[in-house]
Amino acid sequence: MNQDELKRAAARAALDELVDGAIVGVGSGSTVNFFIDYLGERRERIAGAVSSSEKSSARLRERGIEVLELNDVVAAGRPIPVYVDGADEIDTGLRMIKGGGGALTREKIVAAASGCFVCIVDASKLVERLGAFPLPVEVIPMARELVASRLRELGGRPVERAGFVTDNGNLILDVAGLGIDDPVAMETRINQWPGVVTVGLFASRPADVVLIAKPDGIERRPS
Ligand code: A5P
Repeated sequence: MNQDELKRAAARAALDELVDGAIVGVGSGSTVNFFIDYLGERRERIAGAVSSSEKSSARLRERGIEVLELNDVVAAGRPIPVYVDGADEIDTGLRMIKGGGGALTREKIVAAASGCFVCIVDASKLVERLGAFPLPVEVIPMARELVASRLRELGGRPVERAGFVTDNGNLILDVAGLGIDDPVAMETRINQWPGVVTVGLFASRPADVVLIAKPDGIERRPS
């Protein structure tokens, strides 16, 4: 199986995690794109989607799925029992690095508004220690150099993602070289700096379930 086939298998397995008749939270990225395609074939099962990026919203609408505003859903007290998203890395504690597609802020918001976070990955995303993948940090443009200098003090090597603007009008610093021994502490620390919108560590709120696609089948953790 190639990587796309594995991503597709993980996406398909996520259908078993859905709550019939409920709103589903939908993340972003190539694995989630496969999930959206499967969801489109079963759109009568759900009451619509809350999306974490303009790209996912467009794909959901193309597949005939209603995209609901998060504010309306929360104001109406409607639950989002399941949130499905990919990851750039996930460790054994189900803590993740996300934001390779730049949608980390809305992903964190929709995940926070949802019940069960179901992470869908191929086995290459599974790591012992987070940080080989450069950590994305969404930053208000005027704070770029201030935040970059602090990331360097932590031992990181921040690089602005060239020609990229987030759905929120901000920029992304991709930070290589961080030794992430304590993901919760690092997430908390970077989050507090003025100018940081979101750090792509999803550690204080890890995934609840991960579906790992391997050549011999899907591994679900916890089983
Ligand atoms: C998008 O901003 C990311 O958080 C994605 O969830 C992550 O990059 C995984 O993407 P792929 O499914 O494309 O690997």
